[in-house]
Amino acid sequence: MIDTPVQEVVVCSLEELDDPGSMEFRIGEGAWPFKGFIVRRRDKVYAYQNFCMHAGHPLNWKPDGFLTGDGSQIICSSHGAIYEIESGECIAGPCPGKKLWPVDVEVRDNEVIVRRESTTTDQQRSPGGPGFYSCLSRKLKGS
Ligand code: FES
Repeated sequence: MIDTPVQEVVVCSLEELDDPGSMEFRIGEGAWPFKGFIVRRRDKVYAYQNFCMHAGHPLNWKPDGFLTGDGSQIICSSHGAIYEIESGECIAGPCPGKKLWPVDVEVRDNEVIVRRESTTTDQQRSPGGPGFYSCLSRKLKGS
């Protein structure tokens, strides 16, 4: 059996995330980090890969913008696919029935933490090697 390292990233504190609200994150470094986003609805937080199931584009057209105007659903900026926040299922637009890829997420000590298994390729790309974590949101905010 091969042990696969797990990478964890603290995206933000729960208070930093609007309700409803969304925020991007990255796991890994280099040219091809894993890109995802978190969505808060009330006290629950969901996480998905930033990848539209219709044509593979990133879902957002502006930083941290993944939700419809009323914040009730996830929307793809390219052609308007609508996804349910809780399930990630496409319920309208060009990819009905398909689902966003979920990412493990939890709120621990009031911090929103995402995690995924690191592939060998991820580790080779990361300048810090295995165990080197990054958080784009924190870097952008200067914290
Ligand atoms: S790429 Fe998302 S709806 Fe077309």
